[in-house]
Amino acid sequence: MKFSHEWIEKNPWLLIALVTVVVSVGGLVEIVPLFFQKTTTEPVAGLKPYSPLRLAGRDIYVREGCYNCHSQMVRPFRAETERYGHYSVAGEFVYDRPFQWGSKRTGPDLARVGGRYSDEWHRTHLNNPRDVVPESNMPNYPWLAKTKLDPAEIVPKMRALKRLGDPYTEEEIKAAPATLVDKTEEDALIAYLQGMGTLIKTRN
Ligand code: HEC
Repeated sequence: MKFSHEWIEKNPWLLIALVTVVVSVGGLVEIVPLFFQKTTTEPVAGLKPYSPLRLAGRDIYVREGCYNCHSQMVRPFRAETERYGHYSVAGEFVYDRPFQWGSKRTGPDLARVGGRYSDEWHRTHLNNPRDVVPESNMPNYPWLAKTKLDPAEIVPKMRALKRLGDPYTEEEIKAAPATLVDKTEEDALIAYLQGMGTLIKTRN
């Protein structure tokens, strides 16, 4: 019998075997290189792991549930980029574990809020949002300014992130608690907000 395409197609078992071979090779070519890559997403230029203060602030953001009302991802649509600035790219979130993209927008997206307001504005706003935005329905967070951070907590957090691949050095981890002495939860949260999305040039 002639070895032709028609012959393969008329032999279901042979066809299944050959399809399996082809699909496996295609799959392996795509999957195997991923095992040897340290990360599939390149950090954007200048991206560093969170400083101790910003890392502490990020945890307060999570604790207070800010993500229930705020997303952190500008989508690539005109209406979004006009309002918030450059759309978000994967390389900005390499050290976000877990990321805070969110999906609920009772308030505005915060991905590019860094540098948009002064620290003083944030202090007033977090204490009582209606002092600066009269129609706001964001809750008050007055306790943040009154609560000091516990500097000792940062060490195990940084160690855990290091284990996951964040390039903290042992010296940085040892020096971290000293940088948090006498800082309030509000200082940390504002430091976190002020660094958000600032590595990519925005129009705002
Ligand atoms: C119940 C929903 C809700 C929660 C929870 C909430 N916010 Fe808001 N947020 C809003 C709304 C609505 C606005 C828009 C009005 C305003 O500026 O107050 C806003 C505005 C903001 C802005 C100004 C954004 C801009 O571009 O003008 C920041 C910064 C902010 N929130 C931070 C936070 C942080 C940090 C938390 C957690 C501690 C938080 N929000 C929790 C609803 C919320």
